[in-house]
Amino acid sequence: PLVPTAQLVAAAKEAGHGVAAFNVITLEHAEGIVAGAEQAGVGVILQISENAVKFHGGLLRPIAAGSLEIARAATVDVSVHLDHVEDEGLLHQTADAGLSSVMFDASHLEYEDNVAATRAAADWGHANGLFVEAELGKVGGKDGAHAPGVRTDPGEAAAYVEATGVDALAVAVGSSHAMVERTAALDLDLIREIAAAVPVPLVLHGSSGVADDNLRAAVEAGIVKVNIGTILNVAFTGAVREVLDSDPKIVDPRKYVRPGREQIAAVAARLAGLVSGPRT
Ligand code: G3H
Ligand code: ZN
Repeated sequence: PLVPTAQLVAAAKEAGHGVAAFNVITLEHAEGIVAGAEQAGVGVILQISENAVKFHGGLLRPIAAGSLEIARAATVDVSVHLDHVEDEGLLHQTADAGLSSVMFDASHLEYEDNVAATRAAADWGHANGLFVEAELGKVGGKDGAHAPGVRTDPGEAAAYVEATGVDALAVAVGSSHAMVERTAALDLDLIREIAAAVPVPLVLHGSSGVADDNLRAAVEAGIVKVNIGTILNVAFTGAVREVLDSDPKIVDPRKYVRPGREQIAAVAARLAGLVSGPRT
């Protein structure tokens, strides 16, 4: 069934484990992710990024409505989240589109400007019943704007959460967006320090670049929401390429999209299960 993101995140934090949040670009992503979560028997967050909305001609509603219907039909708990929103016009569509949470991304701004913009976004979000995630420090690699090597300072993180009133905090602890190789080295001590300093659940972005054992260690150290995108696209596109390469006569997209969707499901099942298991 469709549940609010706040419920999935709170349940994970309370139980001492993580919850995977997978990026949806097409409806087949949403179908594959939910199939994977059902295979693993765990709840999952579907997240639609501002960039994905741009890909759909600037329209949030069609992909949001499709994702919500897929969530409603699921046998496990599924929520739908709007990811990396910089545009206030899009932010203000979150509630009307039926989503229960949003990540407002003012991380490209200077600290004081980030606080002011995020405070306003959080106030608006809370007035509209939304769970609001924000980012301090920069998760490397996104659009080249974030330098790898940036780290979130625990004291600054605590002050930022206090000043903005956000419900979850994305932290820069060694991961970078859009990595195809899983070679990111996470600073687990820093995760533990931030988790001890900050009262809200922590979010890891750029999780595709983090190897399985390190991802699990990040959850053990205190990460709750684990954002995963690129690795699904590696799996999807690899399967599509293999089918197209094997038969140049194929014209029906179902012939190559179906195996792509199956590979998304397989990866989502594995990673959703990996992060959602109890802490040892
Ligand atoms: O917000 C989305 C995530 O940070 C996805 O990052 O594509 O590098 O896994 P990724
Ligand atoms: Zn991200």
